[in-house]
Amino acid sequence: MKKVLVISGPNLSRLGSREPDVYGSTDYAELTRLVEEWANELGMSAEIRQTDSEAEMIEWLHEAADAGTDVVINPAAFTHYAYAVRDAAAQVITAGGRVVEVHLTNPATRERFRHLSVIAGVSTGTIAGFGIHSYRLALESLSLK
Ligand code: DQA
Repeated sequence: MKKVLVISGPNLSRLGSREPDVYGSTDYAELTRLVEEWANELGMSAEIRQTDSEAEMIEWLHEAADAGTDVVINPAAFTHYAYAVRDAAAQVITAGGRVVEVHLTNPATRERFRHLSVIAGVSTGTIAGFGIHSYRLALESLSLK
């Protein structure tokens, strides 16, 4: 079974209680359960992780690069300024893997500081604005090849 690493960044463990009007009422545990289910339906196995630490996120991207694993990543606020995460994501691509950037919301419709993604330029593609279903669409995009 093809493995995919699904990484969620800072504050996403707080889903459900964190600004539910913006991010929805599904909590992170439920999202994890759904991602696992969606991946299995697509014939993949998902390794699902969340971190508030930029260093940890970078370590996981290095791991994916070394293993040639495709990655679905919601870099959360790191999206907008974390050049080191971008450089780590670029290594996954160089190694032949794919990186799909996901967002629950559509950052382009939100505050100005969210309009820039420093990750987008090294991503295979980006899916944003479909709530928790952004993760499902990202997994689907990885099943296209
Ligand atoms: C987010 C959008 C980011 O701007 C924000 O910092 C997040 C979540 C999203 O999924 O919509 O934490 O990545």
